[in-house]
Amino acid sequence: MTHPRVLITRPLVAPALQAFKAQPWDLTVCDRVTRAELLVAAKEYDAIVTMFSDRCDADFFAAAAGGPLKIVANHAVGYENLDSVAASAARIWLSNTPDVLTQATAELAWALVFALARRLGEGERLVRSGQWGGWEPQQLLGMSLAGKTVGILGAGRIGQYFAHMGQGFGVRFRYHNRNPQPAFEQTSGAEYRSLEHLLQEADILSIHLPGGVHTHHLLNRERLALMKSTALLINTGRGTIIEEQALADALRQGHLAGAALDVYEHEPLVNPDLITLENAVLVPHLGSATVETRTAMALKCLRNIQAALSGQQPPDAVNDPAINAAAISHDTGEMLY
Ligand code: DGY
Repeated sequence: MTHPRVLITRPLVAPALQAFKAQPWDLTVCDRVTRAELLVAAKEYDAIVTMFSDRCDADFFAAAAGGPLKIVANHAVGYENLDSVAASAARIWLSNTPDVLTQATAELAWALVFALARRLGEGERLVRSGQWGGWEPQQLLGMSLAGKTVGILGAGRIGQYFAHMGQGFGVRFRYHNRNPQPAFEQTSGAEYRSLEHLLQEADILSIHLPGGVHTHHLLNRERLALMKSTALLINTGRGTIIEEQALADALRQGHLAGAALDVYEHEPLVNPDLITLENAVLVPHLGSATVETRTAMALKCLRNIQAALSGQQPPDAVNDPAINAAAISHDTGEMLY
């Protein structure tokens, strides 16, 4: 009896990998796959677990069409790396990993707020350099959070949870979203603002939008210029939302006080200007990087594959292969904006 062939493009955390190995599947786990290998895999596997850095575009789904592939299970909540129209046309399911990374990503956003507001990166570098000469009244003074206005750009699951977590910090919340969220306003006290007003009002702005064409360079040079010169910008959404060179220029010229980034426009490349700036906190896409969260994400992939292989709709499907592809919007990602 032949078993379904399942490919995972990067090693998953151990408990999840064990669960995959316990399935009646012919499993291949790669260290990483090249574009050419992914195009070959499209024709050979029944299911593929992709990372958000694996691009499954129209060429990928054209290669897969008519073959054994039934599902691409993205190990990420964002799925702008997958062409949902082409997948549906090829009758292939797509799934993502919603909910299980909401808390971890909101936690990281607050960690970045504190790291930036209290200048932890600079402090760490000072101590490690061996140049620290002891306590001084004016050393590395940061910004207190209490009384400040925190802007949330994108009030989806993560943006809302970020506000929920921040209720004890004495800040007031303002937000912008494609659609106002009255229930969120009630529970968080957040007030809706236009994008321009949010940028002008926020002392701290935290981005919680998906990637994709609708949010590409939403914070361009002109919009960044609307922000207060004392403001701090946090991005745990997608790097493509910010015009990265314009951000580096604003930070260097003092038009913006600081930025803390988990995601980058040309990941894993980081704008070299940003790397030289003391007022930038830079971490390597860690939003969902906890053992608990990555295990839950991988197990979601497993459940989605189980469903697709048994002819069921995956619980976290983000497309519908039964629907005429032409009727499906070209939107990708969580589409909160
Ligand atoms: C996501 O899930 O979209 C993250 O950015 C990748 O872990």
